[in-house]
Amino acid sequence: MKVTYYGHSCFAVEINGKKILFDPFITGNELAAHVDVNTIEADYILVSHGHGDHVGDTVAIAKRTGATVVSNYEVVNWLMKQGVEKGHPMNYGGSWVFDFGKVKCVVAIHSSSMPDGSDGGNPVGFLIESNVGNFYYAGDTALTYDMKLIGDYKRIDFAFLPIGNNFTMSVDNAIIASEFVKCDKIIGMHYDTFGYIKIDKKEAMEKFNLAGKELFLMKIGESKDF
Ligand code: NI
Ligand code: MN
Repeated sequence: MKVTYYGHSCFAVEINGKKILFDPFITGNELAAHVDVNTIEADYILVSHGHGDHVGDTVAIAKRTGATVVSNYEVVNWLMKQGVEKGHPMNYGGSWVFDFGKVKCVVAIHSSSMPDGSDGGNPVGFLIESNVGNFYYAGDTALTYDMKLIGDYKRIDFAFLPIGNNFTMSVDNAIIASEFVKCDKIIGMHYDTFGYIKIDKKEAMEKFNLAGKELFLMKIGESKDF
């Protein structure tokens, strides 16, 4: 699967020719100033929760591309009120088979309110299964024992985990999370974008290496096969 990083928690994953975009926050991210948001393609946009650094450019990209937005019920409702045409609401424990693979909506321990202050439901993570591999996108979350269920339920090839601390898991907790989900290939997200979440990247990679795991800190705009 080809993974492209657009900064913060935004990644595009290509699965069976479909482009799945996660948490597109590009406009307003100074670190992603060189990314032209108007060129990003998407067949689906998966949004983990209502916060501005995750909903971000979803409305603009969905309107331009005609992508289907997948999120919790409240976030999808809100996005459709902003003019998004195709939405697929989900909630914890539910799964749905799309044309690229299966999405299961899993627990994230965080909060969720929309940029205008309206109710953003509960934050979610996504477990993606496809015939070319499986992965976990954690969204914004604390470390939680619920992650053990993911490790017991499916073999996953790689996982997107937040590592920036303060609002989400830290590097140390992300290492424990990677043990819970039984995955040795971690793509870091939700770090360095703003002051509260600046990390020492070299130290983070060393810590993962010491734990026998690999931490990938992709460059913004970079693509890599996983
Ligand atoms: Ni958040
Ligand atoms: Mn966030």
